[in-house]
Amino acid sequence: MQTIDDLDVAGRRVLVRADFNVPLEDAGDGTRRITDDGRIRAALPTIAALRERGARVVLVAHLGRPKGEVRSELSLAPVAARLSELLGAPVAFAADVTGSDARAVVEGLGDGEVALLENVRFDARETSKDQAERATLAAELAALADLFVSEGFGVVHREQASVTDVAALLPNAAGRLVLAEVEVFRKVLSDPDRPYAVVLGGSKVSDKLGVITNLLGSVDRLLIGGGMCFTFLAALGKGVGSSLLEADQVETVRGLVAQAEQRGVDLVLPVDVVVATAFSADAEHKVVTTDDIEDGWMGLDIGPNSRRLFADTLADCRTVVWNGPMGVFEMAPYAEGTRAVAEAITRVEGLTVVGGGDSAAAVRLLGVDENGFSHISTGGGASLEFLEGRVLPGIAVLED
Ligand code: 3PG
Repeated sequence: MQTIDDLDVAGRRVLVRADFNVPLEDAGDGTRRITDDGRIRAALPTIAALRERGARVVLVAHLGRPKGEVRSELSLAPVAARLSELLGAPVAFAADVTGSDARAVVEGLGDGEVALLENVRFDARETSKDQAERATLAAELAALADLFVSEGFGVVHREQASVTDVAALLPNAAGRLVLAEVEVFRKVLSDPDRPYAVVLGGSKVSDKLGVITNLLGSVDRLLIGGGMCFTFLAALGKGVGSSLLEADQVETVRGLVAQAEQRGVDLVLPVDVVVATAFSADAEHKVVTTDDIEDGWMGLDIGPNSRRLFADTLADCRTVVWNGPMGVFEMAPYAEGTRAVAEAITRVEGLTVVGGGDSAAAVRLLGVDENGFSHISTGGGASLEFLEGRVLPGIAVLED
């Protein structure tokens, strides 16, 4: 994989695929406000390095899943404004992806200047399953640039025009963020210091079957919390009341539990949970052991004994990867499990990696010290697919 240091960028147009898929809310005055700019900040070192070396930086990115429709609430205009603040320099915003405005904006760029194209997913060809259709958009994007830099780690698992197809048309390189992310996940996958633990949470076990299966061949300890733990508890024959349960996965999960035992993996499940009468912060709630979840009660967080058990299990680890919250951390009564696990990981001496998406958002929302982790990934789905051992097309194309 080439890096941006291998490219001669001075005076040349460099198309940078970033992941600016950031959460937004209505500001109340008809505009949209970015609530977490972590992904924009993560791209700054690459943008700054390219600017310093006189590149004309053309950023391409997506926001949400507009499926080829132009939707004003998914415009990247607020990202251009925030990026400009963070860079302390103007960011020219093109009101289309590869149309006359994009061409004019790129044409007008001087050395060291930056432009951002409108949401690439406003063009249906971006996510088309038809490679020939995607290729036409990729060719239009390639015509806007001389070089390509892959900086959107969060999308490298997608086979899309601005991720894979355009990369194949131009001399390319990995940006600083993609390089750092790939390095961390390769270390974890190929040569983790031990004991090596993975903490998984989130709602659906069906999303994580591939990851769990792959991890059972390498981890020493696997800790399961969040909504998905109830399918594990059900597989062990426990009642789960009205908790989230994927009944069609119970048999599969039973197989995973047996595999963990055969391979000597320490599978750690909650011993108690916070249960509530409804999915609401105001609902009546209490702590019960996982043997005592009654009908009409749903588990929304791991309980205090589980928090201690998880923290103790992680304490002497040398590698920890965490993906998925332990409970409904957005609601104060169910946030303590996620907080405790996050804090326990910050005390681990060794390589600690937070998978992107909800876990990274939880770290920021709960005010846990971000410097306490070795690496907070910007990729949710991408980091999971990496851990699953899959070939990520957006990385493979750079290596080709
Ligand atoms: C993400 O938010 O995980 C990335 O930006 C990818 O988004 P997608 O799942 O809509 O492709």
